[in-house]
Amino acid sequence: MSVTVRPLVDEDLPAAWELGRLAFGGPVTPPDRALRPVPGMLRLGAFDERGRLVGTATDTGHGQWWGGRVLATADVAGVAVLPEYRGAGVARALLTDLLARGRERGAAVSALYPTVSAVYRRLGWEVVGALQRADLDTASMPTAPVPGVRVRPGEPVDLAVVDALYETLARPRSGLLTRRGGRYDLPHDGPWPDGVDGVTVVEQDGAPTGALVYGRGTGYGPDARLTVSDLLAVTAEAGHALVGVLAGWRTVTGTVRVPLLAGDAASGGLPLERSPAGPATAWMHRPVDVVRAVADRGWPGHVRGRVAFTLVDPVVPENAGPWELELADGAGELRRPGRDPGLRLDVRGFAQLYCGVTTGRAAALAGLVHGPEDPAALDLLAAGPPAQLLDYF
Ligand SMILES: CC(C)(COP(=O)(O)OP(=O)(O)OC[C@H]1O[C@@H](n2cnc3c(N)ncnc32)[C@H](O)[C@@H]1OP(=O)(O)O)[C@@H](O)C(=O)NCCC(=O)NCCS
Repeated sequence: MSVTVRPLVDEDLPAAWELGRLAFGGPVTPPDRALRPVPGMLRLGAFDERGRLVGTATDTGHGQWWGGRVLATADVAGVAVLPEYRGAGVARALLTDLLARGRERGAAVSALYPTVSAVYRRLGWEVVGALQRADLDTASMPTAPVPGVRVRPGEPVDLAVVDALYETLARPRSGLLTRRGGRYDLPHDGPWPDGVDGVTVVEQDGAPTGALVYGRGTGYGPDARLTVSDLLAVTAEAGHALVGVLAGWRTVTGTVRVPLLAGDAASGGLPLERSPAGPATAWMHRPVDVVRAVADRGWPGHVRGRVAFTLVDPVVPENAGPWELELADGAGELRRPGRDPGLRLDVRGFAQLYCGVTTGRAAALAGLVHGPEDPAALDLLAAGPPAQLLDYF
């Protein structure tokens, strides 16, 4: 089926809301922000020959932290097609256009949360991780006095403290959103953002070193749950103090749900062995522009080397073909090589290696690398820490 894809204008927004509501079951009355343009966010629509809106996709306008540097992204949300038009190539048309426009404005990579990974695999995204949450029995939280820390209730003004702590933790890691741009720049209606009822701040020597952002939920007792949207600690003491604060909820909320960031001080203090498998939501990644994806991020300073490969990317032709990757002194470069590479790398294998979640040989066993040379050479592309996300979009 042939459709025309173009950015939505204000008059299209009510129809776009209705289309998304049918797909995802949202409220009948749209929130104000759904009917207004959001700076940095690009909403695309697919229209049939009669001008009817039949599909939508949104480029969220987020950034991602990669090794201390911000990568511009074309992160994707709100992909929906009218039920009568599904399976006819509408999502393919929307996402191909979204990638081309993203590339045009300087985006390097793209992440998304799929309801159906098969659709996005066909278009070059691959699963690279899962948003991790742990549901813990509040009574199992350790609590002990932590000398040298002050714990206080936060005010809305402390959301700036939360932002600063988040940035300290996200900046040296890979994949985490910058929490700037798109919906992150919108003002919230009440004193707190949606779903937030309060903030707890930890200070040491007068400087904030930890913060807890929570939604109280309803009721009290064994079935009640405290939902923590941010558990941020930049010192071990702050991590222990925050876990102690969570323990203090034990008489009223039987469970506390916490986000997990691998390798941080807060999860270091949690009794994670007591968590039944918490909800984990898979997310996917792909390069939008491989040259920028390599050049614009930070790489581990101790890694040095070169590897040549031919990239197979049927959806973004500019990414495809032979490349040589060189890493040195914390920087990376991708250039067209003089020789024919002995490895063929599928764009989905590129995504997994780039996100640090596989190795060259493991990717070959998954059918994402072919060729006569040893695929272990591609481990160079996997040199950074594994990518993570703390935010759903
Ligand atoms: C998921 C959805 C957006 C797909 O849109 P669509 O227009 O039907 O998808 P397309 O026809 O463009 O298909 C794209 C590719 O995915 C494949 N595909 C489509 N739907 C699929 C499905 N449900 N399962 C597996 N593969 C699927 C197609 O075969 C096609 O591959 P090809 O182009 O290489 O042949 C649509 O079904 C929908 O709106 N669903 C409800 C809302 C939703 O789940 N949105 C996704 C949020 S992440």
